[in-house]
This record gives sequence, structure tokens and C-alpha cells, in this order.
Amino acid sequence: MSDLDQLVATARADFDAAGNPAALEDAKAKYLGKAGRVTELLKGMAALSPEEKKSRGAQINVVKQQIESALTARRQALADAELQIQLKAEALDVTLPGRQAGLGGLHPVSRSLERIEAIFGSMGFDVADGPEIEEDWFNFTALNTPADHPARSMHDTFYVDTVAPDGGGHLLRTHTSPMQVRYAVQHVKKHKTLLDAGQAMPEIRVIAPGRTYRVDSDATHSPMFHQCEGLWIGENVSFKDLKSVFTDFFRTFFETEDLNLRFRPSFFPFTEPSAEVDIAFSSGPLKGRWLEVAGSGQVHPNVVRNFGLDPERYIGFAFGMGPDRLTMLRYGVNDLRLFFDGDLRFLSQFR
Ligand code: DAH
Repeated sequence: MSDLDQLVATARADFDAAGNPAALEDAKAKYLGKAGRVTELLKGMAALSPEEKKSRGAQINVVKQQIESALTARRQALADAELQIQLKAEALDVTLPGRQAGLGGLHPVSRSLERIEAIFGSMGFDVADGPEIEEDWFNFTALNTPADHPARSMHDTFYVDTVAPDGGGHLLRTHTSPMQVRYAVQHVKKHKTLLDAGQAMPEIRVIAPGRTYRVDSDATHSPMFHQCEGLWIGENVSFKDLKSVFTDFFRTFFETEDLNLRFRPSFFPFTEPSAEVDIAFSSGPLKGRWLEVAGSGQVHPNVVRNFGLDPERYIGFAFGMGPDRLTMLRYGVNDLRLFFDGDLRFLSQFR
């Protein structure tokens, strides 16, 4: 092998040994750089005759081209290898199962609230919402339960600030009944002109579902629970209407005609007479058992007066029921706390 062929072979071996672009550029300098071997060869031609220069020059040029093409080839090989590494690192295995988007669902109590709103909505009831931090006046005093009334002890109240004897002060509402007063007062304001002219006012028909609070916690009580208030006031609204509304409501809610309803005498300060509402299924696992589902009654004249209405002319009924309890009955759940523990093993069963 001539010294020139030897040079090309060494250069190739050097280039092949360079494991990365920086090493390859160093190797290139050794041959093609200013002080490189090829440059040395060209300098060495200075002493040659013109004839010799011609043939030697041509040989050196061939060598230079061969080294350059070896360099280019090695550059390409290194770039290809790098690309392969990068592709491998960023490889997507399209056969892997995708990341699942968690399937959410409505909370079972929210489902009940939606059903309650839809059913009462279909019977012409408006849906109202109000504050959970309530004024003592709306929660108790306006509902015929003044500060010294013994019925206040029926509610284990979370007080926010001190209650003044005149009904000032705030608490976490113990029931949704304050919404009766809030809604009725607005309704009366809206129809003031009619009322002032002694004309009939459109009936009040409203439900007010929402969160309520009492200092209580066991399998059937939670410090936070839900209630749904109802109010229907007109010139001629009676218990008969209450019974038919309730019967329709519960039969629709539980999706069965095999359901009976009874009123059991009771006491609430804001109604007179008052009744506890019980339902019983005539088939199914709860067959024949009377289940308490709501409190109700004819709105007390003092409360009607607090609405801003004349109790001699306006009369009607109110009720309060527990959507949590209805949900327990509908799905056969026996511990209320499960609804509020936030355990997905329980909640995801209702998706
Ligand atoms: N607010 C009552 C409670 O929490 C439930 C209730 C009973 C509401 C009778 C009413 C009613 O509107 O007429 O125990």
C-alpha cells in the first residue's frame, strides 16, 4: 500500500473511531486542518519540478477527496445514530391502552334534588335558593318562633354570632323554612299594586332545596344535610291540595303507584294544624312500613302576617322534606354518613 493509500486508511479508521461529532471534528483537523496531514503534503510539493508537481498534485487531490468523502460519510452516520437514539427515546407505543379520563357522575343526593325540582317544576312550583348563613329572624322569629320559644330547642343550632332578643344575629340555617319568608316577602313586594288595590295576587308556589345545618351526627344525622322546603299560598289552598301534591310527588319520585300516604298530627310553631307525612309502599322490600318523609301543615296566621299578607284572606300549606332520606330510601342506603364521606367506592356506584 502506498503512503497515500495508507493515509486515507488511517483517516478512515480515525473517523470511524470518533464516537460523536466533536471527536470527529478533532479527527478532521488532524488531516484537513491548517496543520493537517494533507496540508503538509501539499506544502511538501514546493521543492518538486513542475512535471512532478502535476502528477503528485493530482494524487494528493484524490487523497483529499477520499478523506473528505470519508468524513462526510462518518458525519452522516453519526447524525443517523443520534436520530435513532432520539426516536427511540421519544417512541410512542400506540398499542398501549390510553390514559382514561375519569368518568364523573352526579352525587346521589344531587340526583334526588334534580328529580325533586323537575317534579315540583312540572306542578307549577318555582325553585328558590337562599343564604346558608341566615339571619335569626328568618330562621326562627318570622316563623313564629321568638327568642324565648321552647321550640327553638328542637333545633341544635350552630350560631355564628350572638342572637339579640329582637331577632338580630346570624346562624347556619337549621332548616330551609326561612326561604318561605324570604320568597313570600319578595312575592308580595312584586305584587304590591294588586294587593293595595284589593285584587287577587297570583298564588305563591315554590320549593327551596338546599343545605341545612345542625349539631348532630350519627347514622341518620349529619351536621350538614339537605332539606327541601315547599310553600303554596293562595285564597283557597287546603290540606286536600297538599295531600294530592304529595301523593303525586312521591309516586313520581319513587316511580310506583303502589304507595300510600298518611298525615300524622304533629307540632311545628309555623304551622297550625301540623302534620308529619308518612309514606308506605304496598310492594317491594319496604312493603307495609310507614316511613316518615316530611313535616307539613297549614301556614300559621302569624307567619302569613310576616309574609305581609292578610291571614283572613290568604291561606295555604308548607312542608319540609329531607332529600337525603329520600335518596336513602330510593337506593336502599342505611347510613346517611356515606353520602358525605366522599368515598369514591361508594359514590361511583351511582354513576
Ligand atoms: N322545618 C321543619 C324541620 O326542619 C320541617 C317543616 C315542617 C317544614 C313543617 C315546614 C312545615 O314547612 O310546614 O323540622
